[in-house]
Amino acid sequence: MCGIVGYTGADTAKRILIEGLKRLEYRGYDSAGVALERTSAAGSCELDIVRRTGKVAGLESELAHMDPDSTCGIGHTRWATHGRPSQANAHPHVSCDGRIAVVHNGIIENFAELRTELEGRGHRFASETDTEVLAHLIEEAYAEAGDLMAAVRVACTQVVGAYGIAAVCADEPGVIAVARKDSPIVVGTGASGSYVASDVIALIDATRDVVVLEDGQFARLAPEGITYTDADGAPIEPAITHIDWDIDTAEKGGYPDFMLKEICEQPRVVRDTLVGRLGPNGELDIDELGLTFEELNLIDRVYVIACGTSYHAGLIAKNLIEAWARIPCEVEAASEFRYRNPIITPSTLVVAVSQSGETADTLAAIRDARIKGAKVFGITNVVGSPVARESDGVIYTKANKEIAVASTKSFIGQIVSLTLLAMLLGQAKGKLTTGQIRMLFHELGDTAAQIQWILDTQREAVHRAALACKDAQSALFVGRGMGAAISYEGALKLKEVSYLHAEAYAAGEMKHGPIALIDPGFPVIAVTTKSPTYDKVVSNLKECEARGAMIVAIATEGDEDIKQIADHVVYIPPVRDAFSAITASVPLQLLAREVAVMRGCDVDQPRNLAKSVTVE
Ligand code: F6R
Repeated sequence: MCGIVGYTGADTAKRILIEGLKRLEYRGYDSAGVALERTSAAGSCELDIVRRTGKVAGLESELAHMDPDSTCGIGHTRWATHGRPSQANAHPHVSCDGRIAVVHNGIIENFAELRTELEGRGHRFASETDTEVLAHLIEEAYAEAGDLMAAVRVACTQVVGAYGIAAVCADEPGVIAVARKDSPIVVGTGASGSYVASDVIALIDATRDVVVLEDGQFARLAPEGITYTDADGAPIEPAITHIDWDIDTAEKGGYPDFMLKEICEQPRVVRDTLVGRLGPNGELDIDELGLTFEELNLIDRVYVIACGTSYHAGLIAKNLIEAWARIPCEVEAASEFRYRNPIITPSTLVVAVSQSGETADTLAAIRDARIKGAKVFGITNVVGSPVARESDGVIYTKANKEIAVASTKSFIGQIVSLTLLAMLLGQAKGKLTTGQIRMLFHELGDTAAQIQWILDTQREAVHRAALACKDAQSALFVGRGMGAAISYEGALKLKEVSYLHAEAYAAGEMKHGPIALIDPGFPVIAVTTKSPTYDKVVSNLKECEARGAMIVAIATEGDEDIKQIADHVVYIPPVRDAFSAITASVPLQLLAREVAVMRGCDVDQPRNLAKSVTVE
């Protein structure tokens, strides 16, 4: 949450900061600001601080009249934690003398004590944020050390919490001091200067060779390059990561919004996630897990821990792991898991699923599980992310950067990766033969074409269903088995992008309460694909129909009978029930987006949300 960016070099800092902030806006968009270095008429360096509430586009207009000559600056786009979204609380925050400016992503847990102490020593605060203490701590340390990088290191010894920090000082023109603990920071040098950002997407135009800073590492950016130190100020040589995904990912490429573009990328995600995973003898190749078949065979319990959409991917995995490996699998919200005392033994496998790889609750749950002796696998979309680094093994989903705040393509990448893991466990446990693995693998690959078929043929049907839903106050999503798991995700997608209240229920639970909600015209969106429980779902729908519900069915192509009870039908191709989540999720994603567009919502940046949830 929150995006930070910085540039120092020969180019126009204002343009680079604004472009970077726009790419980082998925991390938060309630206010934005920059600090730009300017040479005064007297020849001294001064900091121009511009901050405003709302999105980066507003900041951009405000900056339009400013001096374009600045070649060093830092910027920030905010998702409020401490202090409401306001101009005063927007970053950068400055020291009392206005000569040091700081942008920060994370949380300073001991800010209240630090603020009291700093106020006691005469510092004046201008905001309600936790971040502002950093500006004053660096100011004090700078008075002693006379060196910005050293001052940032000292300030970091005083704060407790998570931070990615970039700081500038008018007395050291052209220098940006950077620090990191538990919040992502990448730095890199391009042809015209040095860059820092919360995410590689903000600097990929300049360089594809970046350093993902590790906790406790510091970087000093100057126009001619970057130097790295540890917490004691000793020089270090961090590893370079090469970014191989395409910059097209960061552009809409002719689509009206990123959400639609990313939904349409899902066939590729399925294909890429499967590349190289099946060996010539029908054995699955997931070497990154780092466990032998014998070790996998010893696993007797699986926990999937995740949040939000990633949690729903876990619900789907539970069905597959229990069916194919015949071992118990529990799915838990990471925010609950970390505060319970789950039963974990050395033969427990914890699978942490996180698109961003930086969700605070998921990370805390990983740490807790490892302390308790579990083996932890991460499934994430972000190379080098904290989830990847802190897990014993990691599977990278091949979704590429996901820009829309609502997860779509990364969800599909997660399901495909979890499906592979379930197959691998089934194989290691001797429950699936190599022949079965080969057959399942090929059918899994076929879902790419099936998704494409949905995208090519069902958009009109989705549009009609969306028109029927758009003016509702509330909607119910129902299904059984896989259909129930998909329904949870369908409801989440609808509510987060369209602000229409939606809930999901296992269809058999309807008559135990939720059916009371149904009155004429109430939308019930049902996953009624061909599955062992198809007839049961249809019976449950008849109960809804009898009470006047407006039914949208996600059904299997060729199912004409469903039209007798459903007002709208969106088809998916016939598919093995185990893989139905991959295909049936697509119409639900499209439906959520269509309803949101019809209701005039910003589908890429829904209110109150941020893509990386780095706070508890
Ligand atoms: C919803 C959505 C969120 C995330 C959740 C976990 O569309 O994207 O519910 O799934 O915040 O995020 P990650 O997967 O990054 O841990």
